[in-house]
Amino acid sequence: MRVLVLGAAAGGGLPQWNCNCECCRCARSGARGVTPQTQSSIAVTTDGENYVLFNASPDLGRQIASNPALHPQRGHRHSPISAVVLTNGDVDHVAGLLTLRERQSFSLFATARVHENLAKNAVFDVLNPECVEHREMPLEKSLTLDPGLCRGAKEPTGSGQLEIRLFAVPGKVALYLEDASAGEGFGTVAEDTVAVEISDPRSGERFFYIPGCAEVPLELRSRLRGGSLVLFDGTMWRNDEMIVQGMGQKTGARMGHLHMSGAGGSMEGLADLGLGRRIFIHINNTNPVWLEDSAERREVLEAGWEIAHDGMEIDL
Ligand code: MLT
Ligand code: MN
Ligand code: ZN
Repeated sequence: MRVLVLGAAAGGGLPQWNCNCECCRCARSGARGVTPQTQSSIAVTTDGENYVLFNASPDLGRQIASNPALHPQRGHRHSPISAVVLTNGDVDHVAGLLTLRERQSFSLFATARVHENLAKNAVFDVLNPECVEHREMPLEKSLTLDPGLCRGAKEPTGSGQLEIRLFAVPGKVALYLEDASAGEGFGTVAEDTVAVEISDPRSGERFFYIPGCAEVPLELRSRLRGGSLVLFDGTMWRNDEMIVQGMGQKTGARMGHLHMSGAGGSMEGLADLGLGRRIFIHINNTNPVWLEDSAERREVLEAGWEIAHDGMEIDL
């Protein structure tokens, strides 16, 4: 199984169009080892021919262009992308669906709640159900994605299959759906933010993709224990990072993202689990771990974590 990191940055990307923070300025100038990064998405294959996208970022067009494995390979119209799985309804994870119009057959997997929210936005009707099968995924149920069936064929391809299981993690409803009258959680329900366990049914290799997560409860620790690879929410270095930098009023917690550092942070929360590779992804442009010479980056690397980057390839 191979994982391609299409986009390592959080919503807004690096640099973000209107942001003048240190990391964004460095991404523009090339200083301090910072290179531009696109918004949050990975592509996974078990046969090198068929890919499942996990989230569809607003930068998807660029991401496809810069990853030859995702270019059309044959005939007049073709795409190696057989399916898209969504982990929430945030703009940085769904806007790329609009790039996938043009009558190409694939299947779209998400929780009932995320499908419902997409259905309220008529613009997503460009994904004509004649071509794009909308599949509701219940939580905690394993499903084997067959590339042929995902493209609407009657018979399974049999090779290139991928097994996925969605499970709820602490998080928040999409920003544009927040209901201020609904109290502390803004109307958030369990199906708003999910993580994915992704397995190769042939080799048995598996890993976890968790681009948004607000806390590490004991239950999540037990689930991840001994895992060979975890890609985890790296949005914030510290909870009040945006406020301290004068870049916004919100904490990481308010945005549904657990910060990396210190007591109660994700590095502490995911320590001592016997994990293999631990890689931060969905990293906000304000996060100083982007700066190659920063103390924060050094601390992350010394703790055994890696920082994802666009174009990173991981083989399991
Ligand atoms: C997030 O991860 O918090 C969202 O992508 C924020 C946004 O919609 O910009
Ligand atoms: Mn996001
Ligand atoms: Zn910035």
